[in-house]
Amino acid sequence: MATNEDLFKKIISHAKEYGFVFPSSEIYDGLSAVYDYGPFGVELKNNIREYWWKSMVQHHENIVGIDAAIFMHPTVWKASGHVDAFSDPMIDNKDSKKRYRADVLIEDYLQKIEDKVAKEIDKAKQRFGETFDEKMYRETNPRVLENLNKIDTVKKRFYDSLGKNDLADVKLLIEELGIVCPVSGTKNWTDVRQFNLMFSTQMGSVNEDTSMVYLRPETAQGIFVNFLNVMKSARMKIPFGIAQTGKAFRNEIVARQFLFRMREFEQMEMQYFVKPGEEMEWYNYWKEERMKWHLSLGIPASKYRFHDHDKLAHYANAAADIEFEFPIGFKEIEGIHSRTDFDLGAHQKFSGKKLQYFDQENNEGYVPYVIETSIGLDRTFLAILSHAYREEKLDDGSERVVLGIPARLAPIKVAILPLIKKDGLPGKARMIMDNLMDEFRCFYEEKDTIGRRYRRMDAIGTPWCITIDHQTLQDDMVTIRDRDTMLQERIFIDKIDGIVREKLKNN
Ligand code: GAP
Repeated sequence: MATNEDLFKKIISHAKEYGFVFPSSEIYDGLSAVYDYGPFGVELKNNIREYWWKSMVQHHENIVGIDAAIFMHPTVWKASGHVDAFSDPMIDNKDSKKRYRADVLIEDYLQKIEDKVAKEIDKAKQRFGETFDEKMYRETNPRVLENLNKIDTVKKRFYDSLGKNDLADVKLLIEELGIVCPVSGTKNWTDVRQFNLMFSTQMGSVNEDTSMVYLRPETAQGIFVNFLNVMKSARMKIPFGIAQTGKAFRNEIVARQFLFRMREFEQMEMQYFVKPGEEMEWYNYWKEERMKWHLSLGIPASKYRFHDHDKLAHYANAAADIEFEFPIGFKEIEGIHSRTDFDLGAHQKFSGKKLQYFDQENNEGYVPYVIETSIGLDRTFLAILSHAYREEKLDDGSERVVLGIPARLAPIKVAILPLIKKDGLPGKARMIMDNLMDEFRCFYEEKDTIGRRYRRMDAIGTPWCITIDHQTLQDDMVTIRDRDTMLQERIFIDKIDGIVREKLKNN
């Protein structure tokens, strides 16, 4: 088994053991692809959400927020295209009875070819050293060329068939490529069918009055249908944005990757309304801005990459994903889409209400174009958690697990630890806690040896531990210990808040 899979498993079990993420309804054996956040998980999640909100709303004068309801009028989803087209092609293996997304089977197949090409190029790089010209090698090496052509041909055929909804050809392609079920190892496939990912339920108490409503599969539509309300009430002028965070629901076909693919998850989305014709400029602007945001989390740039879409959704004229290198490989964490006037145009048509902006300067009205930035909160949580997790061997031969979460996002900022449970140390420690708790999320613990308590704080990513000892009673000084360096310093009690505040600014 690949080491990264081991790492992924370790992260999942660490998340459970240390109160970050639990399987939903675990005492009933869980609910597939649904998770609950525990005491430290909820703090981290709230901090990420707040950090996003601050950078998008607080730091942009022309972006405002809303919090739309999860339930929306059912026609919203007809207009948005979700009723007719929000589906994935699925296929079952008759032997293993496992269900797969046909597109994922084909993408995995193509990824293997891409890995082969990358290996080939790496080998050549080593062979030729400084003189190596990758572009020329890609264009001339017969084996690389053959593989790249194969990727293009398969992609083209797949997207053409999917575009025409020719699902029989998608199945044929899977068979022709010799793709086998990873579980049974056979090619005994069912036909490919489209599967709509929206959950529905009934609203209303009396049978005749009930109507079918959907659990929203994205938060974006709550923004589109409030476009006029927000523009008028907050007196917004184009270009302007509306941001929202909230739950979304998708009945995912394949959902066995922890927080990466959940059936109930949270999105942080922003729709930026611009003048038609200016959308490409804003699309490029937001691509860069969003990448900068990810890098500001202190994760190295090598863990991120853009993936520009080959095949655009019917509503988009440009789209890219920001991908993050999770332990399960490079995968989408955020989408940036240029959605044209598709959504506002469709809601205008279906609702019969004019959804336009009036440009006073040019004396003209138009339906704005939209650039969307859409990031998954749970996926960001997973990215931060997986990057933060490290196992360290210490000089004294012992080991520790540390979560190197950026301090400003850490669930607990300061742990308050009286060295022992008596001699007046807890009283002094409580006093310090009372002074700090309003500004910083603190954690008080007096049980166990100090070493064990430090380890527990390392394991949940607490950046600073404050230890109160007998000397503290004499000189009003405490020890502050840094999670990453493990260095300890004596500081005056009345300096703690200033020092922590300063450190947080730089972390
Ligand atoms: N409004 C556009 C939209 O919803 P999307 O690419 O389908 O676009 C945006 O979703 C983001 O939501 C993704 O980049 C991902 O981070 C997150 N996301 C989507 N499906 C998810 C799932 N099943 N579980 C966790 N996060 C998901």
